Amino acid sequence: MTAETTDPVRLPDGPHIPKGVAALGFFAARRRALAVVSARYGDCFTIELPVFGNTTIISDPTLVRELFAAPGDLVARASNLGTVLGPGSTFSLEGDEHRARRKLLVPPFHGKRMAAYEEIVAEEVDRETANWPQGREFSTVEPMRRITLDIILRAVFGAQGEALAELRRMLPPMVPLASLMVVLPPALRRDLGPWSPWGKVMRSRARYNEIIASLIAQARSDPRFADRSDVLALLMSARYEDGSAITDDHIGDELLTLLAAGHETTATTLAWAIERLRRHPALLHRLAEEVDSGGTAFTQATIWEVQRTRPVVEAMFRVARKRISLGQWVIPEGNAIMTSIALMHSSPRHYAEPQLFNPDRFLGGNPDSMTWIPFGGGIRRCIGAAFANMEMMVVLRELLSRFEFATTNGPAERRRSRGIATTPAAGGRAVVFRRTPTPGSARTAAVG
Ligand code: HEM
Repeated sequence: MTAETTDPVRLPDGPHIPKGVAALGFFAARRRALAVVSARYGDCFTIELPVFGNTTIISDPTLVRELFAAPGDLVARASNLGTVLGPGSTFSLEGDEHRARRKLLVPPFHGKRMAAYEEIVAEEVDRETANWPQGREFSTVEPMRRITLDIILRAVFGAQGEALAELRRMLPPMVPLASLMVVLPPALRRDLGPWSPWGKVMRSRARYNEIIASLIAQARSDPRFADRSDVLALLMSARYEDGSAITDDHIGDELLTLLAAGHETTATTLAWAIERLRRHPALLHRLAEEVDSGGTAFTQATIWEVQRTRPVVEAMFRVARKRISLGQWVIPEGNAIMTSIALMHSSPRHYAEPQLFNPDRFLGGNPDSMTWIPFGGGIRRCIGAAFANMEMMVVLRELLSRFEFATTNGPAERRRSRGIATTPAAGGRAVVFRRTPTPGSARTAAVG
């Protein structure tokens, strides 16, 4: 168990390369650079990284689990995202406050509730794909972003009508700009008028607050409030142990957090699914057959394998707040600790032929939670994991029941880091042909 200690610092060894070279390697080819170092130093090593400084990089499942369980007074999340999301966001909360908030957030996202949202997902796929071109290559990541954005706005924000339309216009430029601004030096976060980057973020945020206030007011006066299944309504009804409710301001911060954490990540994983499947014709064929017969097992295994081989969040950063023990190591205060999801998922110690895209490895059982961690783990594990999984299952099912995807011998798309998520560099390109409707298609099969 991770604990505070006064023992002498004992960090795992790592390559002793000049700072500039490490920085270059990290920015130019982070994944490859880490794989090379890991091949030499194993699943725990220390390296000097730009921005984070001295960083211990871990992908040993036992150490990772220990870190996941470490309390917030010993390790903190190394991110400024809370600056934009607000003080009421799960990302900003720590310790008891964080634990209490998660208790209220977890039930609305519980796996058993997810079937309530499947209809919205199917409708959004219908809307988005109505005009997809046939026989012409196009990038799928933008359509996937529109699909996942609308799903969150409807299922989580409970938005409709004019509020839905305005949020749909306003949030896609605001969230990436804000995420970029928070990694830049604080001096650049100054409101120099409506055209300055931070000025834009601030004005969008103010307008966002107004829209959320009106959604909350509408919900309060909604005679059918008790029947509503959107997350906003559930959060408004939730009560802390002392009987108090989440304040309206905090609800606004939390909804923005759910959107920022859940929209791009899910869309990008779906674009990777298309990118992978186009290059594996036999798997694509099996999936289409499963969808037609109303099955779900192979679709689920495929999504798990996409998340193993193309995790869109490749690493999670923490910083030691005190001198702590982590396994056999003693990490000094201020040292960063990076959990490398990418290294863990590609290790031959955990996966046979890890470079192969092979969903069959997950058939007949759930992934091992020690070595399959695309949603993180422990006290900060992704709140929306079941929601994201439901979305991806339904989107894939709906796409395969509508379209045939042309396959390709082309090389795999490269990975490109885009703020929150690592995306396929060409956007997960696809060529589709509309299928003639199949009798007894799987449209009504539940995924849950
Ligand atoms: C494929 C899609 C997704 C992936 C890969 C993903 C991945 C992750 C990861 C790795 C973390 C942990 C970060 C850390 O420990 O520093 C996380 C946290 C979180 N995710 Fe997700 N996520 C996805 C979808 C979603 C969705 C759909 C939602 C909500 C609608 C969501 C809400 C959150 C929240 C609120 C947290 C913060 C939890 C906390 O700090 O206690 N995520 N996610």
